Amino acid sequence: MFVQITYNSCARARITDQDIAEITARSLPSNLAKGLTSYMYYDDWRFLHILEGRPAQVAHTMKQIIDSPLHYSVKVRLMNRNHARDFQGWHFGTLAATDPELCRILKNMGFRDLFQANVLDAIKVLKRTAGRKYRKMSSLEKQALSGPRRSSIPKSKPNLTEEMLGLRG
Ligand SMILES: Cc1cc2nc3c(=O)[nH]c(=O)nc-3n(C[C@H](O)[C@H](O)[C@H](O)COP(=O)(O)O)c2cc1C
Repeated sequence: MFVQITYNSCARARITDQDIAEITARSLPSNLAKGLTSYMYYDDWRFLHILEGRPAQVAHTMKQIIDSPLHYSVKVRLMNRNHARDFQGWHFGTLAATDPELCRILKNMGFRDLFQANVLDAIKVLKRTAGRKYRKMSSLEKQALSGPRRSSIPKSKPNLTEEMLGLRG
């Protein structure tokens, strides 16, 4: 059983490519080691991030994310259980609001950006975009995303509520 958390937050300063590269450099190895998969959409000032994995690992990482000085007003939009991951293969995928394929999808839906969509639609769009991108990637790129070794993930406790309450501790 996996937990998926979707939150949005506001950046303290305009988000640059350098910021995304730095967040990715910190997050990718850590998410890989914890068996987390994740996909993050961002525009100039906001993040919309989906994090999925075993409850204890998701809760621990959410605490680290909330503590990051790069952003504020972290609001959990959705938390649900899944039997399978929506973002298999992506340990820290990122998608800029300027992505042409995404812009095309949003235009068809009548939205200016993904923050305007309800959270379920936003996840659906990100899942579709991530899936397409993943299928287009070469095996070398896929390997760089997922690393050569798979980590061993400790078994989570069964009580989801207890695990999640840790988020607010
Ligand atoms: C929008 C945003 C998303 C982040 N996502 C992750 C993530 O998925 N995994 C992760 O380990 N750190 C993530 N971080 C970075 C953490 O806040 C933190 O810097 C990182 O976990 C390293 O923590 P440490 O410096 O205490 O070791 C994110 C930060 C921001 C601002």
